[in-house]
Amino acid sequence: MATAFFNALSATFPQGETFFIDSVRRYRDLADPVLRDQISRFIQQEAMHTREHVAFNRLIKDAGYGTAAMDAYTRNRIDCARQKPPIGQLAITIALEHFTAIMAHALLTEEHPLPGAPKEIVRLWQWHAIEEIEHKGVCYDTYLLATRNLSPMRQWMIRCRVMLLISFQFWHSNRRHMADFFRQDGINTPRTWWRVWKFLVVSPGMFRKIALPYLSFYLPGFHPWRHDDRHLIAAVERELAADGNPAG
Ligand SMILES: [Fe+2]
Ligand SMILES: [Fe+2]
Repeated sequence: MATAFFNALSATFPQGETFFIDSVRRYRDLADPVLRDQISRFIQQEAMHTREHVAFNRLIKDAGYGTAAMDAYTRNRIDCARQKPPIGQLAITIALEHFTAIMAHALLTEEHPLPGAPKEIVRLWQWHAIEEIEHKGVCYDTYLLATRNLSPMRQWMIRCRVMLLISFQFWHSNRRHMADFFRQDGINTPRTWWRVWKFLVVSPGMFRKIALPYLSFYLPGFHPWRHDDRHLIAAVERELAADGNPAG
């Protein structure tokens, strides 16, 4: 179950992360030197994630899975997102970056995040999770900069409305991609989905763990760093250093 869930996520990452990069990059020159540096670092990190997930997705293809339909679906969703005004694109990015940050937190607190997966794959996801936490405030600060002339109420309404829409689309696309993998394995059955439900809600229970952090996004005073979880990074970084970081 874990494999299908994380493979489905990975299938969308390269195109999604390129979109995130483009949506913040256009504000880099407006930012103060501190935020400008953070945006540059964010772009470097996401570009590296894209590179690693392209390689990982190639392994999925080499294992015999067809991913053309998933790629086409993601391309279509991203093309639609690119039609939105720049602030709308940034609001989409902060919504998805919130998902990645809270899922990263859940992953790093899990003793066995991907049961049965090879160690290198677990390390890839842990490395990605660390960097998602490291840069979780960057897009949000860029959003505050981009919307500085709007009232706090308007800033809040835009990001909450977009988050509602993105939440639906994010899980819809992930469910769709998982179904695609299950169909190719000949196991797209109620029994499989029951196991998915148990995996996501009961044990390890990613949905259950991210429910409250997810809802915090809708609070008027929300900021990603209101929940400082940098302490999670050090321990996993030590493990990665001992093994050799998958990013090389
Ligand atoms: Fe990323
Ligand atoms: Fe990110």
